[in-house]
Amino acid sequence: MKQLISIVTGGSRGVGKFLCKELSNVMPVLNISRGQTPTSDLKTKFPIYELVADLREPADVEIRIGSWLDEHPDYRVVNLVLNAANLSLGTLQHAQLADLEAIFRTNVFSTILITSLISRRCVFSEEGSQVTYLTSSLARAEPALTFAGIGLYSATKAAISRLAMVQAREFALTSPYVRVARVHPGIVDTSMQTELRSSSVVDPSFALKTEGLPPYRSGDWNCIDPSGAMRTISPEMAADFVLWACGHGDHQAREFDYYSTIEYHLERDRRLAALGLPSAAADPVGSRVLA
Ligand SMILES: NC(=O)c1ccc[n+]([C@@H]2O[C@H](COP(=O)([O-])OP(=O)(O)OC[C@H]3O[C@@H](n4cnc5c(N)ncnc54)[C@H](OP(=O)(O)O)[C@@H]3O)[C@@H](O)[C@H]2O)c1
Repeated sequence: MKQLISIVTGGSRGVGKFLCKELSNVMPVLNISRGQTPTSDLKTKFPIYELVADLREPADVEIRIGSWLDEHPDYRVVNLVLNAANLSLGTLQHAQLADLEAIFRTNVFSTILITSLISRRCVFSEEGSQVTYLTSSLARAEPALTFAGIGLYSATKAAISRLAMVQAREFALTSPYVRVARVHPGIVDTSMQTELRSSSVVDPSFALKTEGLPPYRSGDWNCIDPSGAMRTISPEMAADFVLWACGHGDHQAREFDYYSTIEYHLERDRRLAALGLPSAAADPVGSRVLA
């Protein structure tokens, strides 16, 4: 009897830590990052396995994951969440070949190779499985989302986004039980956001766009759509959204943006209201003004 497992990259901190935490309430999880998931402050029902690996070394990562799968032949992957990423801030004119290589190895090469390996090894659950890529609004080819100093990160997110779409099509043709989603998790208060805002090499217009944003407070989106009242969100909130998206992918790699995925926010409101928790649903869902 095959057992289901979720695989998450970058579970040592930020959004990934909470992805591991939530997923381990329902099934075993394998985390792949350089640090380990800090489980001392997490109550987990199922084990979180740790594969300590550096995604800057794709060939090594492939070998290590292959060995792990050999040692755990009874697992079938139902959720693969490619969450790990690095920033590599600096202007393009100062970028060294090593910088370019390192960020593309981490954010693109290893990321796509992990999915390909699991697919080639036929380890995705044939009962239905999903690959979820964490993208970013910075991947979009829009002038308002184009910032000096974040070019390499933006380019890797654009690349992974496009590859995800092609991969979804390939799954449709060869393994239709695998769906794909791309997720922009929101502007999340993690070390990545801190690094972006504190860097002296990042476009001042990025700080103008994001620095003034207040963190989300309960009730902020009761009567107004999230896209009409942008807030930064906690990594727990972002993880909740990513996990929701894990059940909504398709064969076109549908993209979900935290601020504009109204179906998620309505569902979350209902879920929290049913638990009697103070939330964005403190007011009736119907009172929300939808854009
Ligand atoms: N924060 C935001 O506002 C925001 C906005 C849009 C999109 N995103 C996306 O959301 C995802 C999560 O972001 P986050 O804010 O949670 O980031 P974070 O707090 O910086 O965490 C990044 C994670 O990636 C792992 N990682 C980085 N480099 C690695 C490497 N070379 N090898 C293995 N693991 C590596 C880190 O683990 P180790 O250091 O332990 O290896 C860590 O667990 C990323 O894909 C990011 O691009 C974030």
